[in-house]
Amino acid sequence: MKDDIDLKRRRLIMAAGASLAASPVFPVVLKKKVFGGKGREATSAFFPDVEIDLVASPGQARILPGPATRVWRYDGRVVKGSPDAVLPLKNTYLGPILKFRSGQRVRIRLHNGLPQKFITHWHGMHVPFEADGHPSQAIDPGQSYVYEFTVENRASTNWYHPHTNMVTGAQAYAGLAGLIVVEDEEERALPLPRGEYDVPLVLQDRTFTENNQLLYARRGPVAMLGFLGERIVVNGRPDFAMDVAGRSYRFRVLNGSNSRIYKLAWSDGEPITVIATDGGLLERPVTRPYLMIGPGERYEIWKDFRPAQGREVVLESLEYRGIMPPMYERMHGAGGSRGGMGPGGMGAGGRGMMGGPRGMMGGMGPMGIMARHIPQGSRFTIARFRVSRKARETSELPARLRKLKRLGPEDTVNPGKPRPIAIGNRGRMFTLNGEVFEMHGALPIETFKVNTTHLMEIFHAHGGMEMEDGHQESGTASSPMGGMGGMGGMNMAMMMAMVHPIHLHGHYFQIVRRQAPETGGMHGSAEGYETVKDGFVDEGYQDTVLAMPGERITLIKPFDKYKGLFLYHCHNLEHEDGEMMRNFKVV
Ligand code: C2O
Ligand code: CU
Ligand code: CU
Repeated sequence: MKDDIDLKRRRLIMAAGASLAASPVFPVVLKKKVFGGKGREATSAFFPDVEIDLVASPGQARILPGPATRVWRYDGRVVKGSPDAVLPLKNTYLGPILKFRSGQRVRIRLHNGLPQKFITHWHGMHVPFEADGHPSQAIDPGQSYVYEFTVENRASTNWYHPHTNMVTGAQAYAGLAGLIVVEDEEERALPLPRGEYDVPLVLQDRTFTENNQLLYARRGPVAMLGFLGERIVVNGRPDFAMDVAGRSYRFRVLNGSNSRIYKLAWSDGEPITVIATDGGLLERPVTRPYLMIGPGERYEIWKDFRPAQGREVVLESLEYRGIMPPMYERMHGAGGSRGGMGPGGMGAGGRGMMGGPRGMMGGMGPMGIMARHIPQGSRFTIARFRVSRKARETSELPARLRKLKRLGPEDTVNPGKPRPIAIGNRGRMFTLNGEVFEMHGALPIETFKVNTTHLMEIFHAHGGMEMEDGHQESGTASSPMGGMGGMGGMNMAMMMAMVHPIHLHGHYFQIVRRQAPETGGMHGSAEGYETVKDGFVDEGYQDTVLAMPGERITLIKPFDKYKGLFLYHCHNLEHEDGEMMRNFKVV
């Protein structure tokens, strides 16, 4: 019986490997060698309340009319405990929603049914090193890794995705991602929308071949800017539309895109009401004219559709600037406004703009991925909600949500001396604290004593006048850059100034201060900053934060309970795979 299953699985792997190798779909996925190992067994001293089998394997999804799309996907089932710990989703490549309660002991057996090494990380979950999905824990095809942890998190929306060295972006893009919903008593006691009125919205972008297959590569400008697709997909579906009742809803929004940043706004002119961030409920709801959401981030938004009875309300992404390198923004115009962009978000306006033969944005070769994309910072439709039904009841927005202890510098062990997270570059590679990824390495400034809370600062520190070939040049920003197509007068640092969604593993952090980029500063544009600055929510717990060019973000982070290596990295997955990742070593 068991042999039978193994044989079937092996056949499946071989078949999938063959068909993928023959298509242009996942070139990066198959070519890269990554660290791999034999996996991890269950421990006999751990007694789980919930036990789940999770398999990652090649599969298919019907996304567009015509041929099905080959994807890689997670499938799960409950082996022990409440059957609603795994909620499969229909008509999507997304993995099942995993539902946990605070305090539960969880065991997850992850099977690698992919033709490549692989590991999974529980983004946002505070778990021991052995259960965090560090790339050094990646397993070979056919192997399993057993994760065991107690749910320490308060009620919150988290997610899971691959964390395989160099191919996280490709594997996640192929479809490997799912939500984790943590509940607790206090949150359950609040009168928030539940059941069908509690709706996940996973935002991603994809580019398809004429055969409906996923197109991806991480080369040239994609490696530098991040992958940007030509279509927006929500919960794995393009042109997302939903019939809703005239009442209030709770939307759990995850930005599961590789590098796209959304500036969320409602078409009816109502502000966005945010009730939760990465780390769960805020003390009280806050409103914003629009909401910036970077890759990896989650926000829960509360929306009352009563005033829109019988009409349609659209969730859009609005224009913004100041996020991408100057050359990109110049090519796509200020704000990247594209008149003819339809609801599906075909970025026709962007066609061909990245394909020039010269300059750092060119050279995409035959794949032409960047030749077809919705420009970062342009305006497009994300999802449509038709308020087609009357509702008998609704839930009012609570004025207070839950207690949240705000941390201050006095709660840290280093109030006057924040630990740095310096964003820089070495040639065209982005660095953190001056270094690229080392599997087991950590600097003294990246080493923390367990059970201490630290003040930290994220800032842009592109080394002075670092030139394209990586050597340092002194003087001011006046060196003409050969071959940079009119970008003379800019040094490498300025040319590479862009936003980075910085994610820290382990316990959630709190943001205590943001310093805007200076006018005329080397890294950021104060003018571009104006188009995004009202869309941040710093009142809650977070694990990922958008660090705008030139911005300085002060945060407080506890290094609680678990020793070992915990990653911090850019959640632009092409940057992460390009080594913009480091370890925190907790000792
Ligand atoms: Cu969501 Cu280390 O990643
Ligand atoms: Cu994480
Ligand atoms: Cu980055």
